Amino acid sequence: MGLLEELTKDTGMIPESITSLSVVEMENRVKEIKNQLGKKLFIPGHHYQKDEVIQFADAVGDSLQLAQISAQNKEAEHIVFCGVHFMAETADILTDDNQVVILPDMRAGCSMADMADIYQTENAWDKLMELFGDSIIPLTYVNSTAAIKSFVGKNGGATVTSSNAHKMVKWALGEKERILFLPDQHLGRNTAADLGIPLNEMAIWDPIRNELVFDGDIQKIKVILWKGHCSVHENFTVENVKQVRNEHPDMKIIVHPECRREVVEKSDLNGSTKFIIETIENAPSGSSWAIGTEMNLVKRLIQQHPDKKIISLNPYMCPCLTMNRIDLPHLLWSLENIVNGKVENIIKVNDEVSTNAIFALERMLERV
Ligand code: 13P
Ligand code: SF4
Repeated sequence: MGLLEELTKDTGMIPESITSLSVVEMENRVKEIKNQLGKKLFIPGHHYQKDEVIQFADAVGDSLQLAQISAQNKEAEHIVFCGVHFMAETADILTDDNQVVILPDMRAGCSMADMADIYQTENAWDKLMELFGDSIIPLTYVNSTAAIKSFVGKNGGATVTSSNAHKMVKWALGEKERILFLPDQHLGRNTAADLGIPLNEMAIWDPIRNELVFDGDIQKIKVILWKGHCSVHENFTVENVKQVRNEHPDMKIIVHPECRREVVEKSDLNGSTKFIIETIENAPSGSSWAIGTEMNLVKRLIQQHPDKKIISLNPYMCPCLTMNRIDLPHLLWSLENIVNGKVENIIKVNDEVSTNAIFALERMLERV
């Protein structure tokens, strides 16, 4: 079954034997299965997951940390990945063949990752080669499909996460004259701008129109930004920043670099999920913060730091809906399937794709 069918198929797959349980019964059963399977089971959980799931994670981290932890784990036979599809694919690529990666709900995709498909990317590359010759290195945010990682690995490039993007962009520009940055234009633009590359040396690649968008001498282009974005982080606006500045003049604003450039520019700090968490942890008691990132994480930070005033930069913000697909019933269902020997929702990247994607991931992992 293709990913689109998986994402749109009926959700009624969770049997009544699970949906009829109370929350406490479900929690107790998860604990029981975790005890039974011990180290043969590993549950990584991304920071954007709901509390009902994160309470059972064996490791909680951002996408870089979870990739590193998955690569190191050699004991688990089953890895039940509480995150989104591209993260589970990355775990499968980095783990051994006898380790099975499971995504509790196949509809847990990432709208940004879906904004670059492999056919668009190959078409773009052909055109860019015609325009620039062999002067471009591709970089892809880990929020991309395994096929895109494979394409990037095959063409000498690497993956990046929000916590190592600066280092990786610097490395890439030491390798070639210009980079193609997929699929998040905002992370690419914010990172390149922080490194001192002027906005007028950045172009956009529009995958729908299959064309380069740039005004000026194209030989000056240093960064080609794929026209993709995160539909969650794009919801933070300059208006939100103005409102916080008016209503809470002492409040510091910290945002994820998936936010638009103008929002990042007007904020006090920007950085990866890990950077945001560490900044709040290290902030003095009594300090106040408006955070521009995913809502499950913001809510958790509010609970964990009652001595600090914390709000969402956008008061009407929702959680990432695809991250939210993973809930307690889906987690329990995946675990029951393991116990019953009928494992479902296995994420398996084919060997050819995996071989090249590993090059891209390893070029990143050896530099962080
Ligand atoms: P991190 O790389 O910070 O974990 O972010 C992943 C993500 O999906 C952000 O939207
Ligand atoms: Fe994808 Fe955005 Fe959700 Fe992160 S927050 S998983 S980039 S849609």
